[in-house]
Amino acid sequence: MTQETAEWTEPAEPAEGYPEIDALFDSLPNKNGALIPLLHKAQEVYGYLSQEIQVYVAQKLNIPAAKVFGVATFYSLFNLEKKGQFKINVCLGTACYVRGAETILAAFEKELGIDQTETTKDGMFTLDSIRCVGACGLAPVVMIDDKVYGRVTPGDVKTIVDEHLGQGGQ
Ligand code: FES
Repeated sequence: MTQETAEWTEPAEPAEGYPEIDALFDSLPNKNGALIPLLHKAQEVYGYLSQEIQVYVAQKLNIPAAKVFGVATFYSLFNLEKKGQFKINVCLGTACYVRGAETILAAFEKELGIDQTETTKDGMFTLDSIRCVGACGLAPVVMIDDKVYGRVTPGDVKTIVDEHLGQGGQ
């Protein structure tokens, strides 16, 4: 599910408590502009904005939860779904595209058994694409978190995945 197509559904129960959100809320002199800073903090700490977190923030600010959801879905920097331990981004910028980036993306989809934007069931990998990362001379390029892999071939994909599976949980 992409953020654009996400729909708000009322969660059963609001969350019990998020100390990091409480601490930031208490430290803000102006609570009126607190929504985005609180969402930023929540994502930084928890990795994504679950519906429970959104409800919690709404309660803190005494605003409708649907309003928080609206802001969380509007800004692409907010994640509404839990991401994998490793974020694989295949560059689909022009230089990478003409050098076969689509076949690299397809190879990752096949190796991981997921489509673009999805996360593997074991929570290890999230697969996505990005536009030019400024390393066109190395095209086609794949980024895994902050690490750049250049001149990647479909045959490299399994090795890259296995290398990270070996690092899982560290
Ligand atoms: S187009 Fe991929 S790094 Fe520039």
